[in-house]
Amino acid sequence: MEKKNGTEWDDRYLTGVEQLDDQHRELVRMIGEVFPEGADNEETRSFFRRNIFRLVQYVKYHFGEEERFMEKINYPDLAVHAKQHEKFVGELLELAKRTEEDKFFSPAAATHYLMDNILTHIAHVDKKYATFIHVLSFQAENSIRLNRPARRSAFWHEMQILPTEAFIG
Ligand SMILES: [Fe+2]
Ligand SMILES: [Fe+2]
Repeated sequence: MEKKNGTEWDDRYLTGVEQLDDQHRELVRMIGEVFPEGADNEETRSFFRRNIFRLVQYVKYHFGEEERFMEKINYPDLAVHAKQHEKFVGELLELAKRTEEDKFFSPAAATHYLMDNILTHIAHVDKKYATFIHVLSFQAENSIRLNRPARRSAFWHEMQILPTEAFIG
């Protein structure tokens, strides 16, 4: 486990979908580097602003991939989930703007806020599609007549989704 700038990844955030878990880890890593610990001056603020724009690019990429995944599995809450993504991107852009305009704005506090928000989103919102896909996989397991381990991998294979090993374990 890594801890930097209040940044913490924990395996309890795993969804079980390898591609998305890798992206979540990368997101947490990027937020951890968005603002250097301890310092708050013009230089670190412009560093923060640049990083926020990089983060926005990655966040958009991740949200796009996640929404494609939810479409693929016919996830019923996709529209609600996508709305939350849109809101988060808006908040990120707002933070970048405030760094420029508001001298009382604290990038350090904003970094903590971002980390809290993204981890909460993963733990509460992303986890719902994780539960959905795992329920589907168990249903497939019970309906296909194969030996048990093969049934499960057959489902993931058929969906063309790689499961996260640590999660499936
Ligand atoms: Fe996500
Ligand atoms: Fe999400």
